[in-house]
Amino acid sequence: MEPPSFQRVIIFLILSMTLLPSPSSSSGPCSFPAIFNFGDSNSDTGGLSAAFGQAPSPNGEFYFHTPAGRYCDGRLIIDFIAESFGLPYLSAYLDSVGSNFSHGVNFATAGSTIRQQNTTIFQGGASPISLDVQLVQFSDFHRRSQIFNKQGIFDKLLPKEDYFSKALYTFDIGQNDLTSGYKLNLTMEQVKAYVPDVLRQFSGAVKRVYDIGGRIFWIHNTAPTGCLPYVLDRFLNNAAQLDRYGCGSPFNDVAQYFNKALKDAVIELRKQLPLATITYVDVYSVKYRLITQARKLGFKLPLRACCGHGGKYNFNNSLRCGGKITVNGKEILIANSCRNPSVRVNWDGIHFTEAGNKWIFEQIANGSFSNQPIPLRMACQRMEQ
Ligand SMILES: *[C@@H]1O[C@H](CO)[C@@H](O)[C@H](O)[C@H]1NC(C)=O
Ligand SMILES: *[C@@H]1O[C@H](CO)[C@@H](O)[C@H](O)[C@H]1NC(C)=O
Ligand SMILES: *[C@@H]1O[C@H](CO)[C@@H](O)[C@H](O)[C@H]1NC(C)=O
Ligand SMILES: *[C@@H]1O[C@H](CO)[C@@H](O)[C@H](O)[C@H]1NC(C)=O
Ligand SMILES: *[C@@H]1O[C@H](CO)[C@@H](O)[C@H](O)[C@H]1NC(C)=O
Repeated sequence: MEPPSFQRVIIFLILSMTLLPSPSSSSGPCSFPAIFNFGDSNSDTGGLSAAFGQAPSPNGEFYFHTPAGRYCDGRLIIDFIAESFGLPYLSAYLDSVGSNFSHGVNFATAGSTIRQQNTTIFQGGASPISLDVQLVQFSDFHRRSQIFNKQGIFDKLLPKEDYFSKALYTFDIGQNDLTSGYKLNLTMEQVKAYVPDVLRQFSGAVKRVYDIGGRIFWIHNTAPTGCLPYVLDRFLNNAAQLDRYGCGSPFNDVAQYFNKALKDAVIELRKQLPLATITYVDVYSVKYRLITQARKLGFKLPLRACCGHGGKYNFNNSLRCGGKITVNGKEILIANSCRNPSVRVNWDGIHFTEAGNKWIFEQIANGSFSNQPIPLRMACQRMEQ
């Protein structure tokens, strides 16, 4: 775990004094005109729902009062990021109903991986909208929005040309690249062995965004998957593998291995992309702290899904949140929400609750978990390297 932050604060203060603006921006808080997001269900605001059917009720009920394309009772970290800049929530690129892309686009879909998978949603696997596909969509969006802007058609729903270089580009993806290996019964060593290839493809995606004009990047690392019910319920086969908080250590080890390699990849990208400003955010440590210190932080039952049905973790993979059964010809919702999601950490066995997401956002927003250690609202600023 990250050490407590006296040292960090000192480092932060020293570095703050030497803060230099990047060539593309003036000093002071950033005013991003748009956000372009790439990712999986941790940041999906409607992509998978648009393509393959809505996330069922009770998803979305506690904030949006209806399913809202999110696997959550309410808002996600990306929603809090958008809010913090006074920007509207991101429409999903695939959503053809009611979308407004004037201030950004969300290319994330639930179940997305960095690498293309051989087993997709139709066989109980990943979303076919892997990161390379999200990049194809972004590239096409960029090209075609310029054409429509020139023609003055639909231009009120599209970003202005200069937004692409001034926007914040956010990434939260990789979790499903790890769990897809567990689904194939690979050993931890076998999963680790393909991590370099996953990160090679991740770096390739960041470079493509840069080539298209993106300059400011905000990259989340991956969660402690060993503390999530869907991993514990499905893949843990030896109770001795649990740490003192009840998290599956081998899965967390792999996640940390991935994160170390992701951080190295970011450091390398900074060398290769001289005009880019890239922030690596240690979301892992924040999520691990939330789960392991839940009670102290005002939360309850961090290893139990709020919305689900049965078993040690209130999670059943064949009866997930919103799951129904038919009794005497009548459909009954049995994988329903817990009474008070606002004191719970885990929503559906896989994703965090809105309350959890809000807490995580508050921790990461001031830069105390970032490399470089600057706040989100300063993410356009580059420290001298
Ligand atoms: C799109 O959203 C922006 C920002 O919320 C708003 O100003 C604009 O009017 C919207 N465009 C349309 C056509 O609704
Ligand atoms: C998909 O299958 C091909 C051919 O067997 C293999 O080379 C590749 O590694 C597989 N991809 C993944 C992500 O497992
Ligand atoms: C993984 O192992 C489980 C339990 O032994 C088995 O049911 C499943 O078919 C295996 N999956 C694959 C992809 O080999
Ligand atoms: C999970 O749900 C399925 C389908 O309803 C059911 O058959 C199974 O017994 C449940 N598993 C557990 C562990 O409760
Ligand atoms: C960042 O914000 C969190 C949550 O508000 C707070 O606990 C922490 O002390 C802050 N860190 C710094 C360096 O300001």
